[in-house]
Amino acid sequence: MPDDLTPASSASASAPALAPARPRLGEQLLRRKPLEAFAREAEASDARGLRRTLGVWHLTAISIGATLGTGILVVLGTAVPLAGPAVFLAFVLAGVAALLSALSYAEMAGSVPVSGSSYSYAYATLGEGVAWVCGWCLVLEYAVSVAAVAVGAGQYVDEALRVFGLSLPDVVAGPPAEGGLLNLPAAALVLLATLVLVPGARESAWVNTVLVVAKVGLLVFFVAVAFTAFSAGNFEPLAPMGAAGVSAAASRLFFSYIGFDAASTAGEEARDAKRDLPRAIVASIVVITVLYILVAVAAVGARPWQDFTDGEATLVTIVADITGQPWVAFLFAVTAVAAIASVVLTVLYGQTRIFLSMARDGLVPSVLGRISPRTRTPVAGTLIVGGAVAVTAAFIPLGALADATSIGTLFAFALVNLSVIWLRRNRPELERTFRVPLYPVVPLLGFATCVLLMVTLGGITWAAFAVWMGVGVAVYALYGRRHSVVARG
Ligand code: ALA
Repeated sequence: MPDDLTPASSASASAPALAPARPRLGEQLLRRKPLEAFAREAEASDARGLRRTLGVWHLTAISIGATLGTGILVVLGTAVPLAGPAVFLAFVLAGVAALLSALSYAEMAGSVPVSGSSYSYAYATLGEGVAWVCGWCLVLEYAVSVAAVAVGAGQYVDEALRVFGLSLPDVVAGPPAEGGLLNLPAAALVLLATLVLVPGARESAWVNTVLVVAKVGLLVFFVAVAFTAFSAGNFEPLAPMGAAGVSAAASRLFFSYIGFDAASTAGEEARDAKRDLPRAIVASIVVITVLYILVAVAAVGARPWQDFTDGEATLVTIVADITGQPWVAFLFAVTAVAAIASVVLTVLYGQTRIFLSMARDGLVPSVLGRISPRTRTPVAGTLIVGGAVAVTAAFIPLGALADATSIGTLFAFALVNLSVIWLRRNRPELERTFRVPLYPVVPLLGFATCVLLMVTLGGITWAAFAVWMGVGVAVYALYGRRHSVVARG
């Protein structure tokens, strides 16, 4: 194995009495963390840290919980005007891109079953530099997307209140850029999820499982109601904006698939990570893709595509129009808020576990990795992340957050596809409980589709991404470079 470090060093965060000289920058960026060090850390955390309580159902529910939310409930309404009735094909396209990367995630999760997701995979394969870039992108995928998702809940809260002739006062209904002062429902949702996460993964997993059942039920209910008003004529012409419209909608809808990899952040709390993580990832992406396509077909079948508008709680308005029953609309809207809450819960959980891994490696401050002896969860990290996300959700609009999330996620996914290829070439003997089919075609296609979707995102999103990565480089130079545990090996 081409590992170039002393394994014992990376399992311990304590500095040796005489710290070895720091390596040159180029050498440090290429240093890999040995897979054996991950295994030792997992054993150590078994002994005194996180508890292994999660089975395959919990893990699948974590992935579905982290995925199914604002994308299908709100962003769908903004994609229909781009693609027309062919919006379901956009879901297929985005789903194929997500599935290809999901297969690579599944292989990595079965080979490197630790907390930390693609950050850890990159550290084991491509070195500290790429791992840092990946971890920094994951903050976009997790922390920033939680904020985006929570913002989406506001529209359904409004819809629920409207049944009683009420609505949120403008001042607390949106951020300054949308004429308000702050988005109170979004911030409150994030703070609530933070409090649920503090006591422990098992308790959170239980709450999440209940919410997942509710939201899958919600979408099935929507499909059943919408099909009663189905009109085949709504699908003619199928793609009024052509292939370009469909691919633009696919880039937008990629947001709705983000989160399927959340189970891979729970590697150290899984009862049998090597067996269950790959199963959970693949099962969740299949369930989600089928549901999304059904919902898209049912929605456009029930309402002509020209009537979809930006910024409305699309599905509840369709249900309300068809049933004409305010209480159905109310229950639907309330369940939708709960559905979005489960995304917030699980994605926030994922972010705290990624920071846990990064803190253990010395790349972010150790407070983010401190496990409370009482709850055996990273309490301080959870409160810090929850607080920061609540502020973001309160003051920044949805569109800006959603696109930033997508570009960061696609970048991280692209790196995971490359990691699979690296690991196959350099560690062929490693036990793999799941292998991507048709290797190397699938990871190469996964990489290509991620790059393709990134290219179709707009110039402003790319500029924001460049600024984000610039800040990441500065944080690494000022903190990670000096505190890296692996570099001290
Ligand atoms: N996939 C997540 C959602 O749609 C981000 O809410």
